[in-house]
Amino acid sequence: MIIERAYAAVAPHREDAWPWNVPCVRALLADGLRFTAPVTFLVGENGSGKSTLVEGLAEGFGLDSWGGSHEWRYASHRPKSALGERIRFDAAPRGRRMMGSWSARKGFFLRAETALDALDREGFAPDTVSHGEGFLAAFRHKFLQPGLYVMDEPEAALSFGSCLELLGHIDELARSGGQVVCATHSPLLTALPGADIVEVGEHGMRRAAWDQLALVDHWRRYLADPRSYLRHVLG
Ligand SMILES: Nc1ncnc2c1ncn2[C@@H]1O[C@H](COP(=O)(O)OP(=O)(O)OP(=O)(O)O)[C@@H](O)[C@H]1O
Ligand SMILES: [Mg+2]
Repeated sequence: MIIERAYAAVAPHREDAWPWNVPCVRALLADGLRFTAPVTFLVGENGSGKSTLVEGLAEGFGLDSWGGSHEWRYASHRPKSALGERIRFDAAPRGRRMMGSWSARKGFFLRAETALDALDREGFAPDTVSHGEGFLAAFRHKFLQPGLYVMDEPEAALSFGSCLELLGHIDELARSGGQVVCATHSPLLTALPGADIVEVGEHGMRRAAWDQLALVDHWRRYLADPRSYLRHVLG
């Protein structure tokens, strides 16, 4: 593991404006976010604040908010977001050296909206590969060194089999001393044994067990009987 806690260094001036008014960001300001396992999944409804949080964490660590590896830290010249600028980390014992200097920091930010642009400049020529193939190329060629790997809904581009492959890469990173923080709606990804699951919502942030997640329960019921859901939305 690289980091064991994230927190905000300075209080914002206006707590009633975005992103400070998002409940999970409030929780980060109040209590910080403790990482107790090498892999952390953030789950929650649309608009609950997962992307806001993972972008802030990636930026705070020094990864470009546009996505990409540590090599592109200064590529975009985009100023950090207000949240990214304030985020600080407590290093885990094995992450002290990496956290001690910016140049030692390794990692990758996979951001759904801009993933293809980011992969293009990393040399994966996404024009010639499909969306999911581009993601797989990044996992295979960029998810190698121990570092902080931040992902935002990687499952959006991936088939069932490719999601399983991603779990294999995540597991390998975790075993080799790396760390993963991943926002997701996927019951498949969140089933990774030993991963921490943090549920984001109106309540702020709380830890949850996989088999008690609403998203797992909905998928179970839907697959068992799609009509029990469809009758509410179809004419
Ligand atoms: N740049 C922005 N300016 C103002 N509000 C924003 C901005 N980006 C997001 N928000 C708001 O912040 C809240 C959290 O958004 P966020 O994108 O973090 O949610 P999310 O959990 O990632 O949702 P999803 O599951 O749909 O990806 C939402 O209410 C959203 O409308
Ligand atoms: Mg999002």
